[in-house]
Amino acid sequence: MTKRTDLPALLAEIHRDAQPLFGQGRVADYIPALAEVEPRRFGLAIATVDGQTHSVGDAHTPFSLQSITKLFTFVLALKLEGDAVWQRVGREPSGAAFNSIVQLETENGIPRNPFINAGALVITDILTTRYAHLDYALLGALRRLADEPNLHWNPRVERSERETAHRNMAMAYFMKSHGNFRNEPETVLDNYCRQCATEMSCAQLAQATLFLANDGRDLGRLGEPDEQFLSADATRRVNALLLTCGAYDAAGDFAYRIGLPVKTGVGGGIVAIVPGVATIAVWSPELDAKGNSVLGAFALERLVQGTGWGHT
Ligand code: DON
Repeated sequence: MTKRTDLPALLAEIHRDAQPLFGQGRVADYIPALAEVEPRRFGLAIATVDGQTHSVGDAHTPFSLQSITKLFTFVLALKLEGDAVWQRVGREPSGAAFNSIVQLETENGIPRNPFINAGALVITDILTTRYAHLDYALLGALRRLADEPNLHWNPRVERSERETAHRNMAMAYFMKSHGNFRNEPETVLDNYCRQCATEMSCAQLAQATLFLANDGRDLGRLGEPDEQFLSADATRRVNALLLTCGAYDAAGDFAYRIGLPVKTGVGGGIVAIVPGVATIAVWSPELDAKGNSVLGAFALERLVQGTGWGHT
């Protein structure tokens, strides 16, 4: 394959070719505030490990990160607890919907992986034990990684999710009954809903995840020196989990079409890691039946076809 190096031209083509796909998916509405977003938006941003950035469309518009935050909370838990996290959560794809509850019953309240809702709730429980103010600790880490002091969570989205969090609450209580929850489910749900309501733009998200493409090294920003944010070994493992579990029951399809570690969210965002090369963040709110962005997946597929990124 001829690899394209003219990224601005490739991004413009992808932006143009994505337009006919509007209308194929549906904006998430099980969290009522998410349904208020304008559906026909599309943005894409790339950050490279050698410091370049490229973007197209609505790449600077903040959107609701939702499950993409599970990637960051998992990294924080791994930094704090190391391999002890695996006593509380598994690392196998679930093959089930992101909010499925059934496996918990036959698997002793241990979620399959840290990215499905049940697994992310356990991770938030771990962090709730560790931090007196998890919300601000997480925001502080994200601001540093994204080099953006003005990141926030959206209180409307937070409230809307908290008021409709019955299924997540059920999973939390179920895990508590199995002894796999240390804090009160209500407290953890408060933190979880706030976490999911965090907003970032594609450009910020590509920056914030760049350490995952860079052997765990975060390039010094917000006036601070470079930092080994996560060990190179742990980074490799996080990327493996993103490849196998980052798109829930569409993980196989994503690996086939895109072949990169990814994390998706019901806000319509997807971030993809090209180890050693770059990160790609894409946002378009219309989702397929499995809760992943239709235009986002299309754009990533076209981008890897065009660049050869991730091809071995
Ligand atoms: O807990 C939930 O259902 C949402 N806050 C997040 C789900 C999500 O983003 C799944 N991603 N595709």
